[in-house]
Amino acid sequence: MAHPQVQITHCEEFSSAHRLHSPHLSDQENRHVYGPCNTTHGHNYRLEVTVRGPVDPKTGMVMNLNDLMDVMRSEIWQHVDHKFLNEDVPFMKGVIPTAENLAIVIWQRIAACRERFGSARLYRVRIVESRDNFVDYFGESA
Ligand code: NI
Repeated sequence: MAHPQVQITHCEEFSSAHRLHSPHLSDQENRHVYGPCNTTHGHNYRLEVTVRGPVDPKTGMVMNLNDLMDVMRSEIWQHVDHKFLNEDVPFMKGVIPTAENLAIVIWQRIAACRERFGSARLYRVRIVESRDNFVDYFGESA
């Protein structure tokens, strides 16, 4: 086990409003599919981003979690906190703002900053939408 692979995670919380409404469905179907989520409401989201890599013998770290925090705040948090995901967030334009789609879009934005991860790679994006519901995205290699 010369190069143990370790996963490390940073979490950020944000509060956003959204409305689940699909342009592919009628208004009646939207109400049926999404129920109360078809009307505008808010969530206190928790975003967990995990990277995986070898432990640098010089630092004892996979990567500096402050760097991961900086990426998450600049690429995600500052764009979504206290925003209406359907209208205020350019990278959510045209995307039904479910937790699934949020996880995919966030993955893409974080992955675009991979040069800041050193020898680590993005492993998982988790969106916790409520006490009982969360989604995980592992990218397309999973
Ligand atoms: Ni909702």
